[in-house]
Amino acid sequence: MCGIVGIVGKTHAEQIIINGLQRLEYRGYDSAGLFVSDEKQEHLVKSQGRIKNLQEKLTNEVNGTIGIGHTRWATHGKPSEENAHPHTSQNGQLVLVHNGVIENFAELANDYLAEENFYGQTDTEIVVNLIASFMEKESLSTKTAFQKALSVIHGSYAFALVNKEEPETIYVAKNKSPLLIGLGEGFNVIASDALAVLDQTHEFVEIADNELVTVTADGIVIEDQKGEIIQRDAYQAQLDASDIEKGTYPFYMLKEIDEQPTVMRKLTQEYRDDQGKVNIDKDLVEEVSASDRIYIVACGTSYNAGWAAKSLLETVTQIPVEVQLSSEFGYNMPLLSERPFFIFLTQSGETADSRQVLVQTNRLGFPSLTITNVAGSTLSREAKYTLLLHAGPEIAVASTKAYTAQIAMLAILAQAVGKNKNSKASTSFDAFHELSIVATAMESMVDEKDYISSLVEHYLSTTRNAFYIGRGNDYYVASEAALKLKEISYVQAEGFAAGELKHGTIALIEEATPVLGIITGQNTGAHTRGNLKEVESRGANTIVIASEELARQEDQIILPTVHPLLTSLVAVIPTQLIAYYACLQRGYDVDKPRNLAKSVTVE
Ligand code: G6P
Repeated sequence: MCGIVGIVGKTHAEQIIINGLQRLEYRGYDSAGLFVSDEKQEHLVKSQGRIKNLQEKLTNEVNGTIGIGHTRWATHGKPSEENAHPHTSQNGQLVLVHNGVIENFAELANDYLAEENFYGQTDTEIVVNLIASFMEKESLSTKTAFQKALSVIHGSYAFALVNKEEPETIYVAKNKSPLLIGLGEGFNVIASDALAVLDQTHEFVEIADNELVTVTADGIVIEDQKGEIIQRDAYQAQLDASDIEKGTYPFYMLKEIDEQPTVMRKLTQEYRDDQGKVNIDKDLVEEVSASDRIYIVACGTSYNAGWAAKSLLETVTQIPVEVQLSSEFGYNMPLLSERPFFIFLTQSGETADSRQVLVQTNRLGFPSLTITNVAGSTLSREAKYTLLLHAGPEIAVASTKAYTAQIAMLAILAQAVGKNKNSKASTSFDAFHELSIVATAMESMVDEKDYISSLVEHYLSTTRNAFYIGRGNDYYVASEAALKLKEISYVQAEGFAAGELKHGTIALIEEATPVLGIITGQNTGAHTRGNLKEVESRGANTIVIASEELARQEDQIILPTVHPLLTSLVAVIPTQLIAYYACLQRGYDVDKPRNLAKSVTVE
């Protein structure tokens, strides 16, 4: 979703900003813009579409020493040049970039700016004019006017503000949306994601909600809402710029699909102690063990990962598990059990829908764990416990390795809790051993690229719609498989409980509709095969993805055998590749699908 990069104190600020914005491209955006100033000249450039359009608009004469840049994913107002950030106040003095959503922007415009006309439709344009009006009408300094505006704003934001008459200072503030300060020698940077500025620094300072930070070339000053100065130590980002290179891969998604066996082994390394036992915070294990119900709260692919791990968690821990969509759960909280434990599954650790649930569960005093790929992310900071996925940055918008890492992480947690509770199933379940078998099985599946590409060409190259079906865990993989296919190839794909198809959806089956059946469940395989026959009789082209022991000779994809509770980890791999090739063969951008954002920081 929207990205922010800014720098003060270095020449060619525009180039640093462009590089940073390019590193944030993967998060999804539809327009971009930047403001730079070199004390003599100012440049404000915006464009719809890709960052290269912005780059083309910059002339060689630009040599900024301060600047702020932005990639926008439209919420208020269509994607257009006028709605792109930075936004300028009507007196021309202030420029502002913003991530997030200002909920009371219409009231603010009405109460404070009734006489003004705006060039666009964004909430950000209201805010920049609000600050300017406080400065003008009340003779306030930039900082005080900014502080005053923050006190009347409701919503989520990460702001970076420059007053053209103070071309040595960037003012920043955040609430709910991420923003970091990066420290350099003789310069400082700001970014909504550390990845954007790793070529400049590895030393970062976090900003807490409702703080205001004054950033100059020589230092930063953090103030709380009352204006009290806050001292905060910097931390070293444990990321390597090479982690975000594509290497020889044509797309990040393919690289990330290939990385999954390594991620399985990395997780084992990270969470196994010298005796081969699970090494997870004992207090966390105790708190989960003491709960009478686990609530997994998540969105998108992470939600599907929650479902894929449900029966594994229940079997090994003997604790009932509910999987809930954050955006629904937050507003329609069901009757909770007496001792609930909340697990927030979130690749980015920033998803606003999930965060609003965490804010509520914190308020209610319930223990929580965030399982995320991003150390220091908002949900990680705000939950009582964090388990990191150690999957390395996931850049492709369509999530692959984070999905499998989340399931594997839950398997490791399940083992720790099961052992702690002495559950019967945990004695025969060795997560580390099983994950090493999974890693090898995954390797053999990712090696099937050419074959899968040819299958896609045969069955899916022109179709408008497709169905994945399965039962039990296979149904949950079917949901993820369908999501992946629709996200990047725009095929209207649905994941269905195989038995449910005949109760309505079978009406959609036409001649040559692809129906992909996933069959890894011992007790359900025969039924799913029956359901495939039903659609075949109505003209569908069926494709079977079956585990070795249940496979028939005519099945198209055969999965190596793994522990029955972990089959999703292997069954999902061919479906990721199917989505990848369906997208590629249609000529779409694999890593940056239309309308989607990697990290969705609005509700
Ligand atoms: C966005 C992404 C999805 C992702 C979902 C949840 O919609 O496009 O790929 O699954 O957010 O993200 P999270 O970071 O919370 O896992």
